[in-house]
Amino acid sequence: MSECIDSRAFRHITYGLYIVCSIHEGKKNGQIANTVFQVTANPPRIAVSINKENLTHEYISNSGLFSVSVLDESAPMKFIGAFGFRCGRDIDKFSFCSEVKVGETGCPIVMDYVLSVIETRVFNSVDVGTHTVFFADVISAEMLREGEPLTYAYYHEVKKGRSPKNAPTYEAHVNKEE
Ligand SMILES: Cc1cc2nc3c(=O)[nH]c(=O)nc-3n(C[C@H](O)[C@H](O)[C@H](O)COP(=O)(O)O)c2cc1C
Repeated sequence: MSECIDSRAFRHITYGLYIVCSIHEGKKNGQIANTVFQVTANPPRIAVSINKENLTHEYISNSGLFSVSVLDESAPMKFIGAFGFRCGRDIDKFSFCSEVKVGETGCPIVMDYVLSVIETRVFNSVDVGTHTVFFADVISAEMLREGEPLTYAYYHEVKKGRSPKNAPTYEAHVNKEE
């Protein structure tokens, strides 16, 4: 990285933490992402940046579908670890869930430790190198309950969580892979 880029400046960019799920040919998967953001209100559209190596990337690319579950602060580290540090090619992450809903597009939606859920259909994507940014129309959105959304800062400062290599915010000199 160029000497005039101090990556610590990126730490002041704030995020939430989400479980992004997708489905392809009847197989479902999900992963943690901090990069979900709303891009327009009318029509309601959101975006997410997903690493090309992730199984979730393969599923979203093929089906054009993804759901977003907004995590709350009570989400245990074991649960976050399953979705954020393990690949769905190796484990069934949904075995860590007590409730997974099927959305109207057929996409799975994780309901554990979740404040609200959003279901989407991709209308465009941009190849940004290691990641693809998927832009999507919101098909449905539901608020489940009030609570404190889990922020990226809370995850790091209170839960003492780290970011794996495939997270867009990974800092090699700060985070060591598990
Ligand atoms: C706090 C945190 C934030 C993350 N944010 C992202 C993200 O925004 N985009 C991404 O592609 N991966 C992100 N990851 C990494 C993926 O969750 C991780 O690579 C996961 O194992 C991919 O699973 P899959 O191969 O089953 O799709 C994040 C992980 C953590 C723990």
